[in-house]
Amino acid sequence: MALLAALPGCRRSPLPEEASADRDMAAGARIFQRKCASCHNTNGDGRTILAGHFPYANLIDGRWRSDGSAAAIERQIRRGKDPMPKFEGKLTDEEIRQTVAYVLALSKSASAPDARRAASPP
Ligand code: HEC
Repeated sequence: MALLAALPGCRRSPLPEEASADRDMAAGARIFQRKCASCHNTNGDGRTILAGHFPYANLIDGRWRSDGSAAAIERQIRRGKDPMPKFEGKLTDEEIRQTVAYVLALSKSASAPDARRAASPP
């Protein structure tokens, strides 16, 4: 038992999963602003000079060329699609996973009024 108590990190963070999800989200946000926002805009609506002509560059309107699943978003990031470059080899698997999580959260927070209401105080 003394051994358990001595293990670092076991007691300090009551919700380790939540904390690591937060970290992923923050990392995903940084990657998005660095690599994606030039086309998809900082808020994900795709209204930029580079991508404004492509309706599917809007990632927050709830409409997807694909099914909007994590797997489809990951595929798009890895393979790209003209004019979007592919990020396979430029981002690590972990960075891609974090970016997918961020894109999903971005699209959900924008397109789900219930989630917005629930998030703000009454
Ligand atoms: C050079 C501009 C450019 C960059 C940089 C770019 N994209 Fe795109 N992206 C586009 C365009 C344009 C489309 C729409 C293509 C089409 O019509 O299918 C698109 C489509 C997508 C889609 C598919 C949307 C759907 O409807 O299925 C996803 C997901 C996506 N981008 C995510 C990203 C992420 C994440 C990054 C950064 C890692 C990124 N993009 C970087 C231009 C870009």
